Amino acid sequence: MDLPFHRPWIEDDEINEVVDTLKSGWLTTGPKTHRFENAFKEYVSAKHAIGLNSCTAGLRLAVMTAGFEDGDEIITTPMTFPATSNVLVLERLRPVFIDIEPETLNMDVNKIEASITPRTRGILPVHFGGHPCDMDVIQDIARRKGLAVIEDAAHATDAKYKGTPIGGLGNPTAFSFYANKNITTGEGGMLTLNDDARAESIRTLRTHGMSRDAWKRFGKSGFAHWSLEEPGFKYNMADINAALGIHQLKKAQRFLKLRQEYAESYDRAFQDEPAIETFQTRDYALHARHLYLIALDLKQLTVTRDEFLNLIQSSGIGVAVHYIALHLQPFYQRELGYNAKSFPIATRYSDSVLSLPLYPKMTPEDVARVVDTTLGLIQKNRK
Ligand SMILES: Cc1ncc(COP(=O)(O)O)c(C=O)c1O
Repeated sequence: MDLPFHRPWIEDDEINEVVDTLKSGWLTTGPKTHRFENAFKEYVSAKHAIGLNSCTAGLRLAVMTAGFEDGDEIITTPMTFPATSNVLVLERLRPVFIDIEPETLNMDVNKIEASITPRTRGILPVHFGGHPCDMDVIQDIARRKGLAVIEDAAHATDAKYKGTPIGGLGNPTAFSFYANKNITTGEGGMLTLNDDARAESIRTLRTHGMSRDAWKRFGKSGFAHWSLEEPGFKYNMADINAALGIHQLKKAQRFLKLRQEYAESYDRAFQDEPAIETFQTRDYALHARHLYLIALDLKQLTVTRDEFLNLIQSSGIGVAVHYIALHLQPFYQRELGYNAKSFPIATRYSDSVLSLPLYPKMTPEDVARVVDTTLGLIQKNRK
């Protein structure tokens, strides 16, 4: 693949920080994780930021500590990565999907109230592709109905809602630093929140439920036993990963500017092509531009979306699909009784979207090549 779907941007300062960590003798959760946590909580204006080994871990810990009971219903979107609703199922909750809005592919907040039942206890919005959901509407419903809100911000480092960074709205919010995210630690995640007691409990749950971080246990302040109050997970971030995050975060705004520039180039290039639908940015949103999606108008083409994916991959350009919605996946169909007709808008976009390369390591020439190839293939395969 001569233009891969993603390539991370790692410079000497990340490399030197990892080497420094390796030479320091302390590899797991310790001073570098704490530095990264402190910088991240400032970046998103949250009171606490807890370094984890994935966003999935953050979602699970937020769900686990929300006070839900077995069988409670949590409203979320089907247009997401499996982690979002898998953690609900694993915590013995029932995901209730609602359809999405075609303009942004986010959950359609106007459909939330009609899905509330006596068992509903929470809402789990996903800021799809880096575009924030309409959080005032979600938080207003949550307040009126007494529901918890947990945000899946895997795509939304750098996003803002009405000027407030995602992560700074007061809800537990889970971020991903997986290799292709706006900033990366290779694998990693962060959970931000404002509640002191809950943050303390989550810090414990990220290391099995043991009451003290290992680096404190082995510190100079004398030997101390840990105690186990409840069973937790092995979800802590390691300093080797945090070493990358410290420097990636310093570059986040530089990276974002390039993402914005390239996304705008794509928008301009595709605006007059009737077989390509592009997506909108709401007035309230600062879009993190994590993903760049187009939807094909299949009625105008002689090929399916999957055939189009093959054609573009064959020309040396990496592409992806975000997503085949979860109500189309066998597990959720069996478990929740959904079918393709349950959420027609999510079904339509599952069949027609594709994501083009969008990352700061690309050059403007790479963007032009993607545009030319995409438009050329549309011309060749028009009905
Ligand atoms: C919407 C969404 N939520 C959660 C996750 C899980 O993130 P992680 O791989 O860091 O666990 C992803 C991963 O890409 C995602 O796209």
